[in-house]
Amino acid sequence: MQRRSAGNQRLHEDGKRGGGWDDSAAAWLREMGDDGDYGRKYVLDAPMLARVRGRGFTSALDVGCGEGRFCRLLQRDGVQTVGIDPTIALIERARALDPAGDYRIARAETLDVPAGSFDLVVSYLSLIDIPDVARAIARMVDALRPGGTLLIANLTSFNTAGMPDGWTTGSDGRRRFCIDHYLDERAVWVSWRGIRVQNWHRPLGTYMTALLDHQLVLRHFVEPAATGGDPEKADRYRRVPYFYIMEWQKP
Ligand SMILES: C[S@@+](CC[C@H](N)C(=O)[O-])C[C@H]1O[C@@H](n2cnc3c(N)ncnc32)[C@H](O)[C@@H]1O
Repeated sequence: MQRRSAGNQRLHEDGKRGGGWDDSAAAWLREMGDDGDYGRKYVLDAPMLARVRGRGFTSALDVGCGEGRFCRLLQRDGVQTVGIDPTIALIERARALDPAGDYRIARAETLDVPAGSFDLVVSYLSLIDIPDVARAIARMVDALRPGGTLLIANLTSFNTAGMPDGWTTGSDGRRRFCIDHYLDERAVWVSWRGIRVQNWHRPLGTYMTALLDHQLVLRHFVEPAATGGDPEKADRYRRVPYFYIMEWQKP
């Protein structure tokens, strides 16, 4: 059972109202540019696409698709996509960039697509933004056909336990990443470059339990390292756990 204080309940309600995404959409679009930010370009895109290529997927649902960048990458591999996201400005940008694409304004928790209609469901750094993750995962699993794949990229729970301060400079002048209250699920407002959104910290066990509750089978798990870009940044991604990718199969 997750612990939720009165303060956290309020944050939960804020999350349902958008979690800062509506006000942050313009800054987010600037940050993503055409190719995504550092973490997408140099850490996650390649291993995420490697899990898709040559597997014969025909239909994918991208949950929390933002401005639709990963949908467009999937389409290049011949996969038909539906992207859903509750942030209107991001869906409008997705539609402008890909007029023939299928982008819908929707929340994961109340996702309404025919059961068993996709052979791939993707959550690319969206679980941390979703207030009711157990409900969202249930909807994602329902959307998958039997034998289908749920492909997840997420911020590690060690990382989200460091929010909002994360990297700090100690009295000895050395940079450190501090984590605390690991087991306490909570929403935290995080800000960078004009973006201010609510992210959820949850212990890894919360995600694993929600996925295992559906008898999904874990087929793949990696913590990818950075493969390029600014060497100082790549070093930061080696020092601290940032992302994991996991792939689950629906029985
Ligand atoms: C960190 S962004 C990731 C966007 C995109 N997947 C990418 O990797 O660029 C998180 C996204 O989750 C969306 N989001 C927030 N709450 C959500 C919810 N309840 N259901 C689905 N998506 C949600 C936000 O609007 C935002 O587009």
